Amino acid sequence: MISSSPSAVAVSAEQLGKVAGATLATAVVAGAATAVYARYYELTNFTVRHEALPVLPAGTPDFRILHISDMHMIPGQRTKRDFIHSLAALEPNLVINTGDNLSHMSGLPALMDALDPLFDFPGVYVPGSNCYFAPGKKNPFRYLVGPSKKPESEKVATLPTQEMHDAFDNRGWVDLINRYETLSIDGLRLEFSGVDDPHIGYDKHPGFAPTAFDTEPAPLVRLGVAHAPYLRTLNRFVADGAQAIFAGHTHGGQVCLPGGRALVSNCDLPPARAKGLSYQDGVPVHVSAGLGTSRYAQVRLFCPPEAIVVTLTSR
Ligand SMILES: [Fe+2]
Repeated sequence: MISSSPSAVAVSAEQLGKVAGATLATAVVAGAATAVYARYYELTNFTVRHEALPVLPAGTPDFRILHISDMHMIPGQRTKRDFIHSLAALEPNLVINTGDNLSHMSGLPALMDALDPLFDFPGVYVPGSNCYFAPGKKNPFRYLVGPSKKPESEKVATLPTQEMHDAFDNRGWVDLINRYETLSIDGLRLEFSGVDDPHIGYDKHPGFAPTAFDTEPAPLVRLGVAHAPYLRTLNRFVADGAQAIFAGHTHGGQVCLPGGRALVSNCDLPPARAKGLSYQDGVPVHVSAGLGTSRYAQVRLFCPPEAIVVTLTSR
């Protein structure tokens, strides 16, 4: 027979209270440490990721693409600027910039300073919503419950969009804003189809250039480029004949579970595809986790900011 005295019960309750207090204190300390890590370490833990896409005709030399996205530049981001400068040492054949370049109305000089060495390489670009509209204050965890949407009344073009695009153009980069383009770079003929940001409904697909794909003497590849990888966008690129697709926007989920597992993609792309390489009807889709965040949501967890070297190789 088991019995307990009142004092024994009292001691157990006291012990339970101590355990609960210690557990709560541990949770608070762990939460604070995680927040500090996410805010002050992960945010500037810049990485370079490498991917290979075997999409070129047999016998074609490798072609190196530097994919950058979601810089969200604000004045004074020295560490990010120095990292972007360092990317020039990768000597890409081409730079693809998939937008969301600014997060501050005065961020353009800092952006152009950061990109300065990369303008020495051929480049193409599409804008994201954060190339048009300055960010507003909001709960940084709001996006965890669904795609962010700006009310029509807040869609005021407060960022220097045209000035930025003119500056890109003057440095030789080519816009793919609802247009197709053909560029011959280092012996490879690249057919691009680009759209303005699908996240805000600005996308109008141009298809690819109506060239004689099979009769061109140079090796050819067709690439689709967009900021936000909505499924309608990916499906349309695939239908138009894209052989690979490049996008950003998702921030890789930004606040992820250990191991980098994303909870959200900020669009209708499944969160498991929010970063890295996946396939849409057999066509490789490359999504960047981006280099920055909104100035009002400066936190990353298990999702470091990244630039990606995508090497196109022969099939
Ligand atoms: Fe972004």
